[in-house]
Amino acid sequence: MKAEILSLLRKTEGYISGQELCERFGVTRAAVWKVINGLKKEGYGIEAVTGRGYRLSSLPDVFSAEELESRMHTEWAGRNLVFYESTGSTNIQAKLLAEEGAPSGTLVVAEKQTQGRGRRGRTWASPAGRNLYFTILLKPEFAPDKASMLTLVMALAVQGAVAEVCGVDAQIKWPNDVVVNGRKVTGILTEMSVQGEYIQHVVIGVGVNVKEQEFVPELKEKAASLEQESGMPVSRAALLEKIMEHFEHDYTLFMKKLNLSLLLEQYNAVLVNCGREVRVLDPAGEYMGIAQGINEKGELCVEVSGKKVKKVYAGEVSVRGVYGYV
Ligand code: BTN
Repeated sequence: MKAEILSLLRKTEGYISGQELCERFGVTRAAVWKVINGLKKEGYGIEAVTGRGYRLSSLPDVFSAEELESRMHTEWAGRNLVFYESTGSTNIQAKLLAEEGAPSGTLVVAEKQTQGRGRRGRTWASPAGRNLYFTILLKPEFAPDKASMLTLVMALAVQGAVAEVCGVDAQIKWPNDVVVNGRKVTGILTEMSVQGEYIQHVVIGVGVNVKEQEFVPELKEKAASLEQESGMPVSRAALLEKIMEHFEHDYTLFMKKLNLSLLLEQYNAVLVNCGREVRVLDPAGEYMGIAQGINEKGELCVEVSGKKVKKVYAGEVSVRGVYGYV
């Protein structure tokens, strides 16, 4: 009921009477008062005026299950939400929940991770109160070889939400790092469980650097936070709300064709590598070329000498700018 009352207060322009809240939720005035008091304790500014009711007067940057639930207006993405104050890794929790039968679209969020994981076996620093750490669980009914494209769908969703909420020029470094001013603000780790030819579940884990922070020396040049780059306070809850909205929309377009053809134009328009010289770190041999954009499978098309175009598949291959990270 707390999340619903919060959502109602947020939607209502003026006051909402205690009587109306009682009727809507079929509870006593004392029960409504208890919820309002709880919200005030969490830092929400709520004015109570006799004869008029309650009004939300200020919104603190609260990051809690109720705050997030009250913001979700999607159809399925994030509607089943599991929130942890602290957990090892949201990806691991999402996989456990999948095995226990959690529905597709379940969103696992943590205030802090004690064993945050990055790609290629790296760790992902996950202190409390600063960033977003979340994983969405999907149970798609398509062939396992299509799943890698979901990482690009998520990158596009995060890029769109970051641009909208923070008002910055967010871009994507192929395949799935979201960058602002050439610095990485988001990392995505997609993992899949397959049985035979079928996907059991896919988990897409996302870490977004939101608040000002010190990065370890090897990341100093490469990483940044959204508040550092935008110079503005950023609400983690508002950002996650928008990411889920964008993801549901973009995923629906992906599912129509089971490829990225309906998202191609949008993706290539924000692809930082487009038209730039890149170094392809292929284990079979490094080479240079000009990135042209992705194709409908999410491969990066790179023009190498003699106008020949090589298609780079994300898997084990990394791409760097000639003079640095992008
Ligand atoms: C990368 O190396 O760029 C990917 C980092 C992914 C980090 C996120 S944080 C939420 C989720 N849980 C994890 O343990 N990892 C992902």
